[in-house]
Amino acid sequence: MTANNKLVIFDTTLRDGEQSPGASMTKSEKLRIAKVLEKMKVDVIEAGFAIASVGDFESVKAIAETIRESTICSLSRALDKDIDRAAEALRGAESARIHTFIATSPIHMKYKLQMTPDSVLEQAVHAVKRARKYTDDVEFSCEDAGRSELDFLCRIIEAAIDAGARTINIPDTVGYAIPRQFGETIKSLLERVPNADKAIFSVHCHNDLGLAVANSLEAVQNGARQIECTINGLGERAGNASLEEVVMAVHTRQDLFNVSTRIDTTQIVPASRLVSTVTGFPVQPNKAIVGANAFAHESGIHQDGILKKRETYEIMRAQDVGWHNNSLILGKHSGRNAFKSRLEELGISLESEGALNDAFLRFKDLADKKHEIFDEDLQALVTDTVSMALNDEFQLVCMRVCSETGVAPCSTVTLRVGKKEVSANSEGSGPVDATYKAIEKIALSGVSLQLYSVNAITSGTDSQGEVTVRLEKDGRIVNGMGADTDIVIASARAYINGLNLMSADNSRQHPQSSV
Ligand code: KIV
Ligand code: ZN
Repeated sequence: MTANNKLVIFDTTLRDGEQSPGASMTKSEKLRIAKVLEKMKVDVIEAGFAIASVGDFESVKAIAETIRESTICSLSRALDKDIDRAAEALRGAESARIHTFIATSPIHMKYKLQMTPDSVLEQAVHAVKRARKYTDDVEFSCEDAGRSELDFLCRIIEAAIDAGARTINIPDTVGYAIPRQFGETIKSLLERVPNADKAIFSVHCHNDLGLAVANSLEAVQNGARQIECTINGLGERAGNASLEEVVMAVHTRQDLFNVSTRIDTTQIVPASRLVSTVTGFPVQPNKAIVGANAFAHESGIHQDGILKKRETYEIMRAQDVGWHNNSLILGKHSGRNAFKSRLEELGISLESEGALNDAFLRFKDLADKKHEIFDEDLQALVTDTVSMALNDEFQLVCMRVCSETGVAPCSTVTLRVGKKEVSANSEGSGPVDATYKAIEKIALSGVSLQLYSVNAITSGTDSQGEVTVRLEKDGRIVNGMGADTDIVIASARAYINGLNLMSADNSRQHPQSSV
């Protein structure tokens, strides 16, 4: 394969994906996702925006020090302090990329940056040169390129390449582009920028009009050789181009796309599940590739056709994207080593022996209640254990719930708050409502519950229920998660997890805030 038909897959789930309201992830969650992305053979992982917060910096650093098979990238505005911070976070990486950007559209330059085009160009060149002092792998993005003037784009891109940028990214930041027009923009840039052959052209499309994947694919048809995308299409507002759709379109329509990726597509469904679990954003059943119905055939005619020849109604094989890999893995008699090695195979390494012991105890407890334990159970159990391990302020000690026909449900909850144990009880319209009211009597948090969802992790009535709650206070949104075979206990865990995340300080700067 020549360099020209290699399509670079740049995943920004951990950076742009995390900009979805309520999708914040902890360092250990980001590390787990990064390991799955590495296993999937993603070329570049944008691990975060190092200057945004101490938490972002630490996450980029941990990922840079751990991942060996993918390039690790940090975003930075076109500012010295951002670039220096990105370089510091990336120091331990085997292969590091600094991604620097500045807005190039008239509306952004005039109102947001309050800068002239000439000074934007000068700042871009300065930023690229500074980033090149740290690494040869520098990407430059023209923010809001989708609404920028072509002449100015040509000028700034030529200057950025001369300054040392090796990837030029054309973001449709506000999801305004239409496929044919966006493709023509890419084609014109490649034709008109004199040194275009010295860089890979990339696209980064947002989904405000539902066209992010279509625009990205049209760009590839017109010469782009990197797509920036996210698992499940997560991202700012309506999200980014979804990795699974882009990759499977290119793989499935080899007759049209003269490019290939190095992605191991069997990791797509596990990655989608993990991102959904960690963020609490469910995947809609009819979502392409990773939705529960993506390979389900309802009509008799379709089922008949499939039985006679699968290709009559299927253009991809479910197992090629990682469906049906849900094998029975562990049971009641499995030991600590089997448990640990299965976690490693799933790309999960717990940070300490203590965390491993806690997870193993939870596993034994689960195995007593549920005979068959699947990979999904382990993912949920680890997510739950890790998030509970973070809980400094509130911890669930025990709870008792009464649910009886004709009687108001009631719940008694005991929490550890710091060093003290505090109990409260409440009635409610249902057992979960009663439990949340009892917890609130203790926590007095003042949060509002914006979303409550419960999903069965596997099939069967002994399945674990995975509960996600979205809590809001003073404009800050967090997602709490909990899993248990008892869904009222899972609900309590999720709410307590949310309260603890709310009380942790994770304020951060937004990348698109003005320079
Ligand atoms: O959407 C956008 O423009 C971005 C850039 C920072 C690449 O996310
Ligand atoms: Zn973006």
